[in-house]
Amino acid sequence: MAQLYPFNDPVTVEQTPPLQIAGGDGIHVRDAEGRSYIDAVSALWCTSLGFAPERLTQAMADQMATLAYYHSFMGRTPALTDRLSARLVARMPGMARVFYGTSGSEAVETAAKIVRYYWAAKGQDARQRIIARDGAYHGSGQMSAALTGLDYCHTGFSLPLSAVLRTGRPHYLRDAEPGESEAAFSRRRAQELDALIRREDPGTIAAFIGEPAMGAGGVILPPDGYWDAVQEVLSRHGILLIADEIICGFGRTGQWFGSETFGLRPDLMTVAKQLTASVFPMSAVAMRAEIYEGLKPLAHAVGTFGHGVTYGGHPVGAAVALECLDIYEEMDLPAHIARLGARIEAGLAPLKQTPGVLDVRCRGMLAALECDTAPQAQAIGQEAVARGVFFRIIGPVVAIAPPYICTEDEIDQIMAVLAASVAAVVR
Ligand SMILES: Cc1ncc(COP(=O)(O)O)c(C=O)c1O
Repeated sequence: MAQLYPFNDPVTVEQTPPLQIAGGDGIHVRDAEGRSYIDAVSALWCTSLGFAPERLTQAMADQMATLAYYHSFMGRTPALTDRLSARLVARMPGMARVFYGTSGSEAVETAAKIVRYYWAAKGQDARQRIIARDGAYHGSGQMSAALTGLDYCHTGFSLPLSAVLRTGRPHYLRDAEPGESEAAFSRRRAQELDALIRREDPGTIAAFIGEPAMGAGGVILPPDGYWDAVQEVLSRHGILLIADEIICGFGRTGQWFGSETFGLRPDLMTVAKQLTASVFPMSAVAMRAEIYEGLKPLAHAVGTFGHGVTYGGHPVGAAVALECLDIYEEMDLPAHIARLGARIEAGLAPLKQTPGVLDVRCRGMLAALECDTAPQAQAIGQEAVARGVFFRIIGPVVAIAPPYICTEDEIDQIMAVLAASVAAVVR
């Protein structure tokens, strides 16, 4: 055993080594002993087109044979990467330019740098800090981990936490006062945000970052009126909005982007995961024309925009992403997700009445069953693995986010395993 495994307890994993995944096909993965599992959370909410997508393999092989690598530094760029950029900005609401990276974390790092650079270019250098929410997950870099609102991502790492202002998560179910309506809870969260900004001085705050719907924090869907109320506060104080679309982007919540599903009007958007269906490591930050035009004079004065990574805008990634966009368009993504999402909802609905189940929720193909307690969810997860299905367990939450290539029968199979696993635990 020679890996330091990410997001594992090293002591536990030494005693119980990780399951060796040896192969994959469609929505299934196969372990080294030949057992097959459905991954009902698309691995890390990312393999939208499954584990051996032939068209992506072909696109990758063709591009490898044509141009296996080139960069976008100093006056050159792969032609294909420019083509992808045009396709992306045409698709992403309000966006005009994209900047590429290789992981979601890197996209968030870049977004955090860009908002500061933008304000510096505008002569407002004091606008440095970024507001993020409890329970958010934004990645594992220095700033992206600091923006993450989960303590286990902070302890021991000496992150730049003083650059982050923290505000409450939009978890109506757990955090609302007794008798408080969803709309009133959203208003309260917005008032808390407003108070935080006034207390800390808006002139020191560059941006607010949020996932349109929270993923790793426990599949938290925004309550009624939440994003409208938050955006009203942000625009009143001239604070930029970064939509972290790394899970929500490309269909997961029903529309092409979570910003469209939930009514966000972001200044910047981060995407990864489903950009390439995760078969190639690629991410991007998209920005409105005002952000690009705003930062341009400073970069021009310096003589260069001094930020970039060797593998950013990789032509093989661009070929895969273009093929993904073709596939998503052929699927008629929102209609496809609506059809399969309805099937997930139908499977979840009867479980709501089960003792021990606090809530079921679903938007598009992002869904959750929330138990009263974390051990219940843990036990449900184990029962499901024994029945050949992986869910993701997050505290008391069983997260569900199947690949888009599922058939309706496969969704029914996943939901039947969930129901059987719940029954086995609450019995
Ligand atoms: C919303 C969000 N932002 C950022 C990231 C970080 O992406 P990566 O793991 O590719 O660095 C993730 C990963 O799950 C995520 O869910």
